[in-house]
Amino acid sequence: MSDTGFLSDIQTLRARARQHIEEGAVTSSYGADRETVLKLLNEALATELVCTLRYRRHYFMAKGIHSQAVADEFLEHSNEEQQHADMIAERIVQLGGEPNFSPEGLSTRSHAEYIEGANLIDMIKEDLVAERVAIESYTEMIRYFGDKDPTTRRIMENILAVEEEHADELSDLLDGKNGEGMAH
Ligand SMILES: [Fe+2]
Ligand SMILES: [Fe+2]
Repeated sequence: MSDTGFLSDIQTLRARARQHIEEGAVTSSYGADRETVLKLLNEALATELVCTLRYRRHYFMAKGIHSQAVADEFLEHSNEEQQHADMIAERIVQLGGEPNFSPEGLSTRSHAEYIEGANLIDMIKEDLVAERVAIESYTEMIRYFGDKDPTTRRIMENILAVEEEHADELSDLLDGKNGEGMAH
């Protein structure tokens, strides 16, 4: 046992890292089942892409008396979902996988749905449902990643915090805390 303690030997660690260099960010201490993590991340990616598209549609279709502020909110959310998609795709590549951007089967891979909504209130409600679905499934993923893949866990925790903000903003819009009150 060298005096570098539990890391046993920095040289051994470096040699091991070099040996696995072709595996990218995946080192031999990677504790998770990589295939499962990649599958979960591709489902999260599909969820983010569907949410990006749904918010984009809602942004362009928002009409009516309170529509400007709500449309701005839709656009902001759409852009943030796109950022989440990028973060997840980047992590998939780091783990040696391939991000699935195929439009084929996209809505099946996604946990959240693409629902157009007939009017502004419907759109906000559908977005809120989708956020709640994302919050539920990301919470489960985070529990699964646990200590086995702390980096992926942190990425998903950061995304989850933003989804919770989205849900909060949408329910404020419905409750009328954000202006004149949409639902009344
Ligand atoms: Fe998101
Ligand atoms: Fe969101």
